[in-house]
Amino acid sequence: MLSLSLFVTLIALTSVQAKVVHLNWNITWVKAAPDGFERRLIGINNEWPCPSIEVNMGDRMVVDVYNGLGDQPTGIHWHGFRQYMTATMDGALGATQCPILPGKSMRYEFNASTSGTYWYHAHQTGQYPDGLRGPFIVHDPSPPFQYDEEFTLTLSDYYHEEMQTLLQSYDASASATNPSGLEPLPDRTLINDAVNTTITVKPNTTYLIHLICIGNWPGHVIIFDDHELTVVEIDGVFIDPYTVTGKHIRLATGQRMSVLLHTKNDTSRNYAVWDSTDVNMMFFYENRSIPANFNNNATAWLVYDKDKPLPPAPIYTELDPGRDFVDDLIFVPADHQPILEPVDHRIVLDTDQAFVDNAGQMRVNGQTYIMPETPTLYTAISASRRNQTSDVSVYGQVNPFVVEYGQVIEVVINNHHGNLHPWHLHGHQFQVIQRTGVEGGYFNGYFANVSSTPVRRDTIMVQNHGHAVLRFRADNPDMFSPFP
Ligand SMILES: *[C@@H]1O[C@H](CO)[C@@H](O)[C@H](O)[C@H]1NC(C)=O
Ligand SMILES: *[C@@H]1O[C@H](CO)[C@@H](O)[C@H](O)[C@H]1NC(C)=O
Ligand SMILES: *[C@@H]1O[C@H](CO)[C@@H](O)[C@H](O)[C@H]1NC(C)=O
Ligand SMILES: *[C@@H]1O[C@H](CO)[C@@H](O)[C@H](O)[C@H]1NC(C)=O
Ligand SMILES: *[C@@H]1O[C@H](CO)[C@@H](O)[C@H](O)[C@H]1NC(C)=O
Ligand SMILES: *[C@@H]1O[C@H](CO)[C@@H](O)[C@H](O)[C@H]1NC(C)=O
Ligand SMILES: *[C@@H]1O[C@H](CO)[C@@H](O)[C@H](O)[C@H]1NC(C)=O
Ligand SMILES: *[C@@H]1O[C@H](CO)[C@@H](O)[C@H](O)[C@H]1NC(C)=O
Ligand SMILES: *[C@@H]1O[C@H](CO)[C@@H](O)[C@H](O)[C@H]1NC(C)=O
Repeated sequence: MLSLSLFVTLIALTSVQAKVVHLNWNITWVKAAPDGFERRLIGINNEWPCPSIEVNMGDRMVVDVYNGLGDQPTGIHWHGFRQYMTATMDGALGATQCPILPGKSMRYEFNASTSGTYWYHAHQTGQYPDGLRGPFIVHDPSPPFQYDEEFTLTLSDYYHEEMQTLLQSYDASASATNPSGLEPLPDRTLINDAVNTTITVKPNTTYLIHLICIGNWPGHVIIFDDHELTVVEIDGVFIDPYTVTGKHIRLATGQRMSVLLHTKNDTSRNYAVWDSTDVNMMFFYENRSIPANFNNNATAWLVYDKDKPLPPAPIYTELDPGRDFVDDLIFVPADHQPILEPVDHRIVLDTDQAFVDNAGQMRVNGQTYIMPETPTLYTAISASRRNQTSDVSVYGQVNPFVVEYGQVIEVVINNHHGNLHPWHLHGHQFQVIQRTGVEGGYFNGYFANVSSTPVRRDTIMVQNHGHAVLRFRADNPDMFSPFP
């Protein structure tokens, strides 16, 4: 009787708290000048930066998206959301839906079923660096740590030219004036889509800071001058609190991290927050020299007293990733989920860059990706009616791997390219079994020090000429697939 009444009470509480969050979005071009240079950016409801979404765990999201751009298709991905049984709402164009054409709309409807730090962004070529991205925070009613207040900081590299223009030379054949396949260099680094961002803080207060790398290309190191950080969440996964000492945290594109910061007990001065983008990625690994006046740093400030000066950021020279950055493999998920064993199915991805018609293209297992006209999920649904789901030839040139419901999948990513590449898995979090350093070589067996409770996240940086080994359980079918 006792347990029954408790159960009923819990249900009642949940249904009181959970609510429907209905957003109406008109995606439009907006003029803005975040760093003083005006250009058109993609905004929402005629505003840029795009709005931050904050909801409670269990809320139901209903987002009506109208494409008011006029000249480009669009679609929104909810990065890190599990989309359990709602794969058609994931927003991955060509994989889970067709693009939303100009003048058309689509309703996204899904549950904010897990708490943590997420973001949303356009999943149409080049559109999120053109502005269409924002934070998406899902609050937990009882997180395994305490804090007084919270705020979010987004980190990004930023470009004055529109991506469609920049991509033309990136994709074009190499020539004397155009080194094909070489990423365009960013013009600025932005914190909260701005330069000179100030954050007003109270003394003697514990802040939960949601950090989100919404950038296009390089990794970001963020340093709070003279304040200690304790990492408590990565990519929606609570971790055993990890206090950072003697090193700095780095976020790859798509990664998130929540940190606790306890402010000083006095308001005698303000402090710089410094974000620097990865010069190895942008220059040294690509044999490029740093142009004069190039500035890969951005500064924001923790303001204790608005009448006091904003001090410059401290100078750090020669940050060495291997020595100075926290290796995310040392984090331990708070639920101590054991390593997934045994592996039922191993997938090996050998990735490299090749020159096709003298134009640089990224490949997986010797193949480029060609976006299919029919989204892969829908091909799978119709193939299942003909018992052809496991026939990889029906999907087109998308490098398909078919797995069985409930299997433990191991993904080995060998990065044969001379630069770093972040990888993101939709609909699942993966355990990171191992990852080499830069130039660490390709998979040829497990390291001796594999953790029994590996770090779990949804986005990982794979180092140049190195590899990573990931595991996840294939437990997220779409609503049409047969499963036990
Ligand atoms: C979207 O915004 C544009 C620009 O303001 C406007 O012309 C259009 O009518 C809006 N469409 C909808 C469906 O709100
Ligand atoms: C940011 O601050 C610097 C230094 O005060 C100033 O020179 C610059 O104009 C500011 N930029 C913007 C876009 O406000
Ligand atoms: C989403 O949440 C609603 C309300 O709690 C529930 O009725 C529905 O079954 C959930 N959907 C999925 C796919 O879990
Ligand atoms: C800081 O806050 C704690 C808890 O709120 C309080 O006990 C303490 O006295 C405060 N210290 C100062 C110096 O204000
Ligand atoms: C602030 O004061 C509290 C106790 O009053 C102490 O525990 C804490 O270490 C102090 N914090 C700083 C940053 O000095
Ligand atoms: C940079 O130079 C090294 C050594 O010559 C070479 O192996 C590498 O492929 C070059 N990288 C690029 C992106 O050209
Ligand atoms: C950016 O920060 C790095 C590391 O502190 C420093 O070496 C470099 O000089 C800075 N660049 C500029 C333009 O301030
Ligand atoms: C479906 O195909 C598999 C192998 O491709 C076969 O083993 C199975 O019997 C088929 N099922 C039906 C219902 O035809
Ligand atoms: C595990 O071992 C490998 C190879 O010996 C080493 O590169 C890596 O840093 C180690 N990782 C940890 C987390 O100790």
